[in-house]
Parts: sequence; structure tokens; C-alpha cells
Amino acid sequence: MSLPSSNLIAHARKASEPMANRETPFIYNEWYVAAFDDEVGRHLLARRLLGRRVVMYRTEAGEPVALEDRCAHRSFPLSRSHLQGDTIVCGYHGFRYDAAGDLIEVPSQKNCPRGIGVRRYPLVRQGPLLWIWLGEQALADPALIPHQAWIDDPAWACTSGYFHHPGNYVSLHENLMDLTHLSFLHANTIGTPDYASAPYKLDLKEGHYTLIREVVPTTLSPVWGKTTGLEGCASAARIATSEFLSPALHRVSVTFYDSAQPAEQRQQFHIRTAHILTPETANSLHYFIVHGRDFAQHDEALGDYMHEQLFAAFNEDVEGLGALEAALDDRDDHHYEISVASDAPAVATRMYLKKRADAERLHTSRKVG
Ligand code: FES
Ligand SMILES: [Fe+2]
Repeated sequence: MSLPSSNLIAHARKASEPMANRETPFIYNEWYVAAFDDEVGRHLLARRLLGRRVVMYRTEAGEPVALEDRCAHRSFPLSRSHLQGDTIVCGYHGFRYDAAGDLIEVPSQKNCPRGIGVRRYPLVRQGPLLWIWLGEQALADPALIPHQAWIDDPAWACTSGYFHHPGNYVSLHENLMDLTHLSFLHANTIGTPDYASAPYKLDLKEGHYTLIREVVPTTLSPVWGKTTGLEGCASAARIATSEFLSPALHRVSVTFYDSAQPAEQRQQFHIRTAHILTPETANSLHYFIVHGRDFAQHDEALGDYMHEQLFAAFNEDVEGLGALEAALDDRDDHHYEISVASDAPAVATRMYLKKRADAERLHTSRKVG
């Protein structure tokens, strides 16, 4: 079979080429979301993050804590232990750790060895999210958290949800940078047939990749048509901006209006979605989502309808990418893929992830070596 080359930006790529794939190591020197703030309380919550086992809880004063989930004695998971005040008593032989992760008691002896403990990870609350730093402690600067102020802004009515996603985080980044899939994977939910072929603009600044797709005129899918009052309007506009903001975060911002109205009279409707990705293992991730709208903020029924429809669509991504992951598991030529022109932002994103992962490994091996 021959392939038309004009729209191909690359032919079959091999793993040796610089695009991240599911074999690329994680990037640790970044803030990731460990949990929604309200998941962490006066109990031990176990979660695997970037391959590491972490246990989280909240002190009596309300401070969220994240520790390595592995007793220093014989590696028993501390998450299978119990809280005593602000300390964890290991469920195997009773070694006790304080909230800093320091070992403070060994029940079988009078003296507790000093300087022993488990790692405590920086954990910072920003609105409804708890951000964790699993990389080099010295680089953990909370100012680098890609906080989304709109999530906390009363002008935006927000709902949130979570999927345990059965795929590699790189493929979800790619999915979010290639919204041509709306016309196919989401044909019955949020997609319309004209979406994939609509004109688009790119801004590919390193580490901040932006794709703007303008679908004008169009007819909106029911979830947007019913909620904006533009249902059935053949002159609707749908302007979507997808942004890769960090290895942990994408933001999708969409504006809807009736393009037949004069510009100064148009009512505009805005929605935003924070797609928050925290790798769990090489083939699974924690997918947190916060979705907001700047209209009908107090209309609970409308909010519920939008949430239900949107999460049905996001579930199509989860199921679709899970199927993709399983298909790759069964192939020994899984590095084979071709890219077309509309893949440019996804390719840029994957190259960036690869570069970051390689740089981090080099840095670590230099320090060790
Ligand atoms: S493994 Fe935790 S006290 Fe022994
Ligand atoms: Fe999707």
C-alpha cells in the first residue's frame, strides 16, 4: 500500500525518534494532582502516583499530608496501618511515624533509632485540588503549580469528576491535542461531523502548545445547544482552544454564539475544562476533571444535565483509549504509527514530554554518577 505523502508530517516513527510513548519514563519534577481535597481526611488513603506508592491523610489541625507508603522496617504499606493523632502506627510491628515521616517509636525497644523515616512529599491545596511534588525536593516551588483561578471564581459554576483511566498518560495528552476525534469517537455526544475538517490555528511555544479550532457556522450538539439556547440554530459558532499547560494539565476553553447576530449584540457562552492527568503506572492514570461554565451559574438542573452529558463523552475517551492500549499490548510492532498535518500539536507535545523525561534522567544519572 502506498501512502499519500503531502499531508504526512512523518512516516512510520520508531521508538528511537524523539516522541514520548508509553515506554517513556515519567517526569517527576512537576506538580501533579494527587487527589481532590475532599478525598483526604482522617483516614489513610493509598494511591499510586507516577509508579510510587503514596499514603495521604489529614492532621487533626486539617493539614493534608503525603508520605511514602512503605514502612522503613519491612516495607509494610503504611496505608494498611492506623492513625493515632497525627501519627501512623504501622499495621505490622507497630513502628510509629510522625507527620514529617520521621520514625518516633519502636514498640519492642526503649530507644528509637534516630534519622530513620519515610519520605514526606510536598502537598499543596489549590482550590479543590491537592498538588503533589514527587521529584527532587529542592525544586519543589509551589509558585510553579499551574493553578487555575477560574475554578475558584464564583463567576464560573464548576462540577468535577474522576476516571481511573486504563491507558498511558501520553496517549491522553495526544487525545486532548487532537480534537478531530470529536467527529468520530464522540459522534453521539459532543461531536459534530464538521468538527474534524474545520480550520485551525496553532501556537507551538515550547511547553505551552495551543490549538484553536473555529467551527463556524455549525449546529451545536444537544449538550451545548440545549444549555445555551442555540439548539437547532444553523449559524452557531463553536470556537475551541485546547492548551497543553504542563505534563499534568490541559485546559479546553470553548466559546459559543450565534454568528448571524451582529458582533456587538452577540451573547457569548463560555465553558472551560481542566483535564488533569496524573500517571499511575505505565498503562493507567488518574484522570481528574473540573468543568465550568460562565452562564446559568445557579441553574442546578442545567448543570446536572451538562455534567452527565459531558462525563458520558469523557467516558468515551476512557473506553476508547483503554481499547487502544489493549490493542498495543497485543502487537510487537507497536512503535509503528504515522502522523498527518493535524497531528502537529500532538507531536509537539509528545516531543516535549520525551525531551523533559530524557533531560530528567540525564540529570539524575549525572547526580548519581
Ligand atoms: S513493617 Fe512496619 S513495623 Fe515492621
Ligand atoms: Fe475526547
